[in-house]
Amino acid sequence: MAEFEKVAKVSDIQPGEIKSFVLGNEMVAICNTDGKFYAFIDECSHQTLPLSDGLLEGKTITCAYHGAEFNVETGEALCLPAVDGIETYEVKIEGDDIYILLPD
Ligand code: FES
Repeated sequence: MAEFEKVAKVSDIQPGEIKSFVLGNEMVAICNTDGKFYAFIDECSHQTLPLSDGLLEGKTITCAYHGAEFNVETGEALCLPAVDGIETYEVKIEGDDIYILLPD
């Protein structure tokens, strides 16, 4: 059964920041959008390059490599060259700790 895993501290990721973490076999990015945290696979669906190198504006992340955009909350691809969305993960905050739920 999937369980929440503690990944970072709230204070580690300031508003507008994106950080990347290794969790098992996955690279997971967590971003802070105006105090709300979103987690998603740190891999662009276009050419699997790291999305954490991109630019965060509100809930939209723009890939640094060829400009694809994704909604960090839903994972939806918003423009070409990305056609497919990205996986997102449930986030839970307890005190100063950020937990995410990875699928089994
Ligand atoms: S790798 Fe992200 S747009 Fe190409």
